Amino acid sequence: MQYVPPIEVASDGLSRTPTNDLGHLPGPRGHFYFGNLRDLLPDPTPFLLEMRVRYGDCFTVGLLRNRRVVVLAGPAANRFVLLDGDGNFSSRLGWEVALDVLRGFVLMRDFEDHALHRALLRPFFAPDALRRDLVCMNRLIRDEVAGLGGASDAYRLAKRLALHVGLAIFGGFRATQGTARVYADTVRVLDGVMARRSRLPGSRYRRAMRARDRLRAALLAEVPGRREGNGSDLFSRLTRFMDESGRPLREQDVVDHVFGMVFAAHETTASALALMMYSLARHPEWQAEVRAEIVAARPGVAPTLDELSEMPVIEAVFRETLRLYAPIQLLPRRNVRPFDWAGHRVPANSHILLPPQVCHRDAATFEDPESFQPGRFLDGSARRDVDPFAWIPFGRGRHMCMGTHFALVEANAFFVALLRSFDLEPATAGAPAVEHLPVLRPSGSLPIAFVRRRAR
Ligand code: HEM
Repeated sequence: MQYVPPIEVASDGLSRTPTNDLGHLPGPRGHFYFGNLRDLLPDPTPFLLEMRVRYGDCFTVGLLRNRRVVVLAGPAANRFVLLDGDGNFSSRLGWEVALDVLRGFVLMRDFEDHALHRALLRPFFAPDALRRDLVCMNRLIRDEVAGLGGASDAYRLAKRLALHVGLAIFGGFRATQGTARVYADTVRVLDGVMARRSRLPGSRYRRAMRARDRLRAALLAEVPGRREGNGSDLFSRLTRFMDESGRPLREQDVVDHVFGMVFAAHETTASALALMMYSLARHPEWQAEVRAEIVAARPGVAPTLDELSEMPVIEAVFRETLRLYAPIQLLPRRNVRPFDWAGHRVPANSHILLPPQVCHRDAATFEDPESFQPGRFLDGSARRDVDPFAWIPFGRGRHMCMGTHFALVEANAFFVALLRSFDLEPATAGAPAVEHLPVLRPSGSLPIAFVRRRAR
């Protein structure tokens, strides 16, 4: 059978090792072994904001063994790299270092090859598809919210929901005894991928890699059955995909996209939902605004896409939470050819990082940037005057998150169900403990008091 073939692209010829020949660029000296990691790891933003003031919009910092990477800061740099009009910035080589487990996923493809796969995935995020997904999402949300009460870990709740949504909607796996292995292996991969890369026997990373291999094998074995069936999940529908010449996707490509989608939708959404719960618990005035919006809209028990599409207050809280806590703190790329930026020549095959939060916390763009003010995204300043490339929790341009609308709908459906039944109150004092890299997320647990409203 003829399959949709892989396409060769300009980044294929690039050496796997990025250049370290960056001594001509400004930047802080790093420790010979730790580079600038001790400043970057606890929270990269304050350090990068300071470096931007000192060196401008293009500078280098040192990672392990002080290998230099180029930081490009500011909305203009975001626009230049993310729109990538000249086809120069490889997402695959940028992400490969951190996410080799996602090889073959759309994020890990470049240029013409990326455009082809992005186009074939696009229909799965169209309103019709989202309408169908929402039926399943509502059911899973109802199940989660029904079990709540008292002080609980909001992060754990959000992770469980994101796992069930991902496996059901993208994989077509409902949590039953028969799918226990798939669920357990997915959890192992999701946890282990964030762990330190130790290949020692028994390490979390090594267990995750084993689980990934089992999971891939299990998915590959299911392809023929899914092709014959009529499942409406992404996995089933991708097995039945045909391009205009009647060629199906290679089985490996189907599995890579399903696996990648579960992954891309998981930690990001879990972090966002958990920190949104936290923000609403800390800001009862905004919780009251969101509840007032829900009361006025009167969505049904299982809200429809149309009902959820008009929730500007929840959307503003969502946007403001992501401004303060963008889950992806560094967007990586590698350039195929040299380019000039901010008066500097950046050589080919440099490791480049774009830090969204450096724009999100820039006082020149967002007034009083450290404070939680969703109003700026209602009719306030951020909606009117802010450069779209200054707010990029979902990236922008060629690789912009395909799940942006999906994530917003999930947040809307979740908070409609949650705030109808519960008041959220802080269960601990002070700011939440978060870790910033590789993904910004609560560190350990995020306790919140879920107080049932009828009981008041
Ligand atoms: C709050 C939740 C989410 C955040 C903050 C987020 C963030 C991001 C970011 C920053 C990128 C761009 C990476 C880059 O340019 O290097 C991205 C890409 C992507 N995201 Fe999300 N994401 C979220 C939820 C989701 C969900 C729910 C899905 C699936 C339904 C999803 C699917 C994808 C896909 C497929 C890509 C790759 C697009 C491409 O390469 O063309 N994301 N996401």
